[in-house]
Order: sequence, then structure tokens, then C-alpha cells
Amino acid sequence: MVNSELHVVVLAAGEGKRMRSSLPKVIQKLGGLPLLEHVLRTIVGLNPTKIHVVYGFSGEKLKAEFPDAPVNWVHQAEQNGTGHAVLQCLDEIPRDSKVLVVYGDTPLVPKTDLSQLIESARQGISVLTMDLESPKGYGRIVRNAQGELISIVEELDATEDERRISEVNSGIIACQGEHLHQYLPLIASNNQQQELYLTDLISIANQQGAPIYSVLSADPSLLKGVNDRQQLARLERRYQQICADRLLEEGVTLLDPSRLDIRGSVSVGRDVVIDVNVIFEGTVILGDGVVVGANSIIRNSDIGKSTRIDAMSIVENARIGERCIIGPFARIRMGTDIGADSKIGNFVETKKAIIADNTKISHLSYIGDADIGSHVNIGAGTVTCNYDGVNKHKTLIGDSVFVGSGTQLVAPVEIKAGATIGAGSTITKNAPSDKLTLARSGQITINGWKKPKLKGN
Ligand code: UD1
Ligand code: CA
Repeated sequence: MVNSELHVVVLAAGEGKRMRSSLPKVIQKLGGLPLLEHVLRTIVGLNPTKIHVVYGFSGEKLKAEFPDAPVNWVHQAEQNGTGHAVLQCLDEIPRDSKVLVVYGDTPLVPKTDLSQLIESARQGISVLTMDLESPKGYGRIVRNAQGELISIVEELDATEDERRISEVNSGIIACQGEHLHQYLPLIASNNQQQELYLTDLISIANQQGAPIYSVLSADPSLLKGVNDRQQLARLERRYQQICADRLLEEGVTLLDPSRLDIRGSVSVGRDVVIDVNVIFEGTVILGDGVVVGANSIIRNSDIGKSTRIDAMSIVENARIGERCIIGPFARIRMGTDIGADSKIGNFVETKKAIIADNTKISHLSYIGDADIGSHVNIGAGTVTCNYDGVNKHKTLIGDSVFVGSGTQLVAPVEIKAGATIGAGSTITKNAPSDKLTLARSGQITINGWKKPKLKGN
């Protein structure tokens, strides 16, 4: 009786020379996440008992990227082939478990393919195969007259006839722990590359009379591995296409699904509209009816219902309430929290700013370390002078305050509710409620002044 323990082996020891990078290949990013992270997320969905990641190079860099991953790191000092890689974890795989072997550089492998493969491996070994128009470079699936899978032959070792086979090995296999323990030690390196091929498990199992199964992938484009930058770039496009399709399915209007980049996760309400060249990073939440304008970037932020982020705006680590209008050309930075029905216009930068409802900051302002009430109007060119060169200080602005244009609020300072600040003021002291406060030098006019003349005339 085979128990239900599932052990997953992730092969990730390849150096990835063709990436021409100082980073291990599996930490190159796809959709903003390391390749290996994609694979791990998919595998975790299968509820495995243990995940063994076989690594070779830059172990420290690799592990540092996954400090909390629930994996057993297994070092393969020399890359003697895929069979040799799996051998490194054999001792930790119980004979009565099920085993799944996947690659760390094949990030889009669908969970359904994997569960189907595990299911199909029943009492034997099963291979995930794909039918390719151009099978070049892959191990070919060799079948007997009855159509039974009898071996996998690598391209370098294949005959002319075998090279014409269009069904290839995806590299992903599932088998019983028992078979791995029996057959893996029998693999030899008598091939062109002098390596221990995991694929030889198939011919050995065939000789020993173990059942061999296969699952044909419905979409080989998802089983593509990453060996070089071109493949990574193409897979990025494929991944973005998947993300865009998911949003379309959820009812989002994408003005052009091919001009959107998601590097993280986006959750959406109903009737969200996203214009072209928008980038989402981290965790983004868009409420019902949110409209995101062209060329905007939204990172780790929560945007309330019916809010419009107009073109060219950048929003990061912020929360924006309902029915706001942000941008165009707004920069909403870390720690900004905006209430409902407020407006942040062009060339306004906010940071650590708590802004209540119905407040307008429409043009050319910097609002940092500020707490602003509701129904406030901040005139064009207002600056909170929050930094004295050493420390940051707070600006407090009460409800229904009107700040005239071109004002500098030198923090720490408080403008009490209902106050009006005259345009062009440099405010260094608290301003009282419901009064007009201004601080500007008096205007003078010089009589008899003459315009300077151009020299030499
Ligand atoms: C392998 C398969 C081939 C299949 C193809 C699919 C073998 C012998 N061949 O070929 O049938 O069609 O994948 O992409 O299995 N790795 C290690 N340690 C090693 C060698 C490889 O961890 O010693 C890892 C690599 O990092 C990579 C994976 O195993 O993630 C596959 O290795 P790679 O060298 O790319 O195999 P292929 O020659 O492409
Ligand atoms: Ca490969």
C-alpha cells in the first residue's frame, strides 16, 4: 500500500551560463518574482510532505532569496546530470512515498498538469510529454509498436529516425519512491554527455517490467524552460498574457491586454478600466469602478471604489478612498492615506500624508508628514517644509482650512480649523481658527527706477 506522502524534487543546480549573469538562474525574475518562486507556489498547492530543492551555484544568494521557504536545500556539488541531481536527495525520500520531479527554471508549469501526472503514476512511473512542431533540443519519447512508452532518448544520443519524433520529454516526471530507490542507482553515464540521465529511469523501468505512463500536455507553451535572456523575455510576455487574460475573465476592461505589466497580484472589483502601459507591482487592490489612466504605476496600494487614477501617476504603499481623482502626473508616496472624494492634481507629491474627505490639492505641491482634515483646499505651489536637515516635523491642518497659493508651511506647525492662509505666506507659527493669517513682506514700488541698458551701447 502506497501512502499519500508526496515528495517533490526541484532541479535547480544548472549554472545557467547562457544567462550571462552573476545570479543563479532560478532567481532571475518573471513577473517580478524569482523563477523558483513561481515553481514553489505551484508545488505548495499540491500539499507536498517535503520539497527538496537541488542547487549548485551561489547557494547563499539563492537561500537568501527564500529565507522562509519550506524547503530542504540539497547541494549538488558537481552537475553530473538530472539523474545525479535526484540521487542527491534519494536518502531523504521514503520508499513508500510518491515522488514528483520538476525543474526550477520552468516557472509556468500548470498545477493541473502536475496533479494529473501524479495521479497517472499509480503503481509506476509517468512522464509529462508534449507534442512540438520543432522538437529540437528535447529528449524524444520512444514508443513501441503498441504505442507504449519504452524509453527517452536525448537529442545527442538519438538516431536520425528518433530525431523525427515530435513527442518530447518535458522533463517532469512522477513515480513511486520505491521505483526511484530501485532504479536510480542503476543509471549509467554511457551517453554522449557522460552524464547520469534521469530519463534513463524509463528504459530501466521498462526492462524491469514496471508500468510506465504518460500525460500529454495541453499547452506546451507553459512548459517552456528558461535557458537564456530571449527565452526569459518571451516567457515574461506569455506570463503577462496569462495575467491579462485572468483580469479580462474577472470583468476588467483592458484597453490593450498586451500593454499591461503585472509584477505581483492585483485584485479587482467590478467594472474596473485599465488604460495602456500600466504597471502594477506587489499587492494591489482596485475597488469597483476604478479607472487607471495610461502610463501609471501602482505599487502595493489599495484604491477605493470609483476612484480615477489619471495618466502618468505613480502610487506606492498608499491607500486612496472612494471617488477620488488622482493625477494626471501625481506622485502618491509611502504612507499616504486619502479619504473619500478628495482630489490630488498634477505635480503634487505626497508622503506620509493623512488626508481626509473632500480635500483638494490640485497643483504643484509637496505634502509630507502632514495630517490634513476634510474640505481643505491647498493652493498651487504649497510646500510643507517638513525637514530641517536632521529631523522630520509634522504639519497639522484642520477641517475647512484654505491655504493660498505659494505658501510654505514650516513644520512643526498647525493651521487650525477654518483658518485661511494668505497666498505667498511663509508660515512658521500656528495659525488660529477662522481667521486670515498671512506672513509676507510688504509690497513696495520704487519710483523713478530706470531699466538697465544693454552694455556697450
Ligand atoms: C532535460 C531532459 C530532456 C528534456 C528537457 C526538457 C535529461 C537527461 N534530459 O534536458 O529529456 O526534454 O530537459 O527541458 O533529463 N539540473 C541539475 N543538475 C544537473 C543537471 C541539470 O539540477 O546535474 C537541472 C537544471 O538546472 C535544469 C534541469 O535540471 O533545471 C534540466 O537540466 P538541463 O541541462 O536543462 O536538461 P536538458 O539537457 O535541457
Ligand atoms: Ca534545459
